[in-house]
Amino acid sequence: MIDKLDAQAREILCQNDRGGYTVPTDGLYPYQWNWDSAFAAFGFANFDIERAWQEFHSLFSGQWENGMVPHIIFHQEDKGYFPGPDVWGTNKSPLSSGISQPPVAATFVRKIYESDPKAGREHAAILFEKLADWHRWFHVNRCETGAAVITHPWEAGRDNAPDWDGAMEAIDVSKVQPYVRRDTSHVDPEMRPTKYDYDRYISLVDFARENDWNQDIIRDEGAFRVADPTMTFILLRANRDLLWLAKQLNKPIDEIQSWVDHLETGVKTLWNEELGAYDSLDLKSGKFANSLSCASFLCWYGGIENSKMVEQLDLIFSQTKYSVPSYSPMGEKFNAKRYWRGPVWGVVNTLIGMGLEDCGLNAHAQRVRSDTVELIKNNGFAEYYDPFDGSAAGGGTFSWTAAIWLSWASPNAKEG
Ligand code: DGY
Repeated sequence: MIDKLDAQAREILCQNDRGGYTVPTDGLYPYQWNWDSAFAAFGFANFDIERAWQEFHSLFSGQWENGMVPHIIFHQEDKGYFPGPDVWGTNKSPLSSGISQPPVAATFVRKIYESDPKAGREHAAILFEKLADWHRWFHVNRCETGAAVITHPWEAGRDNAPDWDGAMEAIDVSKVQPYVRRDTSHVDPEMRPTKYDYDRYISLVDFARENDWNQDIIRDEGAFRVADPTMTFILLRANRDLLWLAKQLNKPIDEIQSWVDHLETGVKTLWNEELGAYDSLDLKSGKFANSLSCASFLCWYGGIENSKMVEQLDLIFSQTKYSVPSYSPMGEKFNAKRYWRGPVWGVVNTLIGMGLEDCGLNAHAQRVRSDTVELIKNNGFAEYYDPFDGSAAGGGTFSWTAAIWLSWASPNAKEG
């Protein structure tokens, strides 16, 4: 059974390979997505390390002059996805979106390099400078209050998380022109964000495009600016791994160390005492979201230990058959099927599990891993899963779920 799943996972990655880059899944997501791609590389490394390195190079072919690495690279136009390159209007080559995504790449570059330093040294040296430029972009443009900030819900990757509900209310949608969504023709609309959400997503893109993606204007006048645990913990971890790479490659370390120090202090601003957890903070209103989410549990991945978060995780473990749900089942906005408002995501489990393991919380790590194994074994390589009955939700034959199976969840995984 395990060997069969390993073979299926490899097949999914190969099927979603579009020649040097991998799409998350056929149809629903027909382009190269940033963090999906880094996960795909992690999966490819299990059986084709050169292909893994190639994935990073194609991702960084979309890097902007200012260092930003976009969340989507539109290598080949596909009418099956909205919003396409014309809506983003970034005028880059290759065509891309104008926002970024959680920078998991440095961590997977490190892991793949460590698995075969000889094959990886040249690749890692090329990628090191690009990763540093990207991380610097975050620190220059997005870390003014200490934690890392997002300017669009899509940037956190957790598109419709309850975390953003407060901030979304303030977005003016009166100028949004009629549009046709494509996602709901691929997937049950009950599993996707609502029209209310999409109107606000598009309004934010329109504003940034009209202002030429100028980060100062987006910071000072944009309608959405939220300090987010996903971005903060992932960037902190990425900086630690970049620092490790710098040492291996005899590169300067002081600037990267200063980024680590900055975020180690910055994460404290995300501690919501009332909730007893790390939370998202709306910088426009100064209000916490009061959302215990899967991102709250990325603290260990960021190298931050916290005993209260262990208690919170124990509580979450007792609530659902499969952990870790993307939003607390005790929260009033919980929805077991709707994207980031409840379902379990194998990729986030991987990051949480890695962090728990790194911090010596082995029993907790084991629980997260075995839940992920059961979900995949019983329900296939889905985009996400219902935390109660485990049923598959969202897109099927998903690259990043196949990737984390191969490189983390499978009993045969190197990381396992
Ligand atoms: C989508 O289209 O659903 C994506 O999450 C945006 O990046």
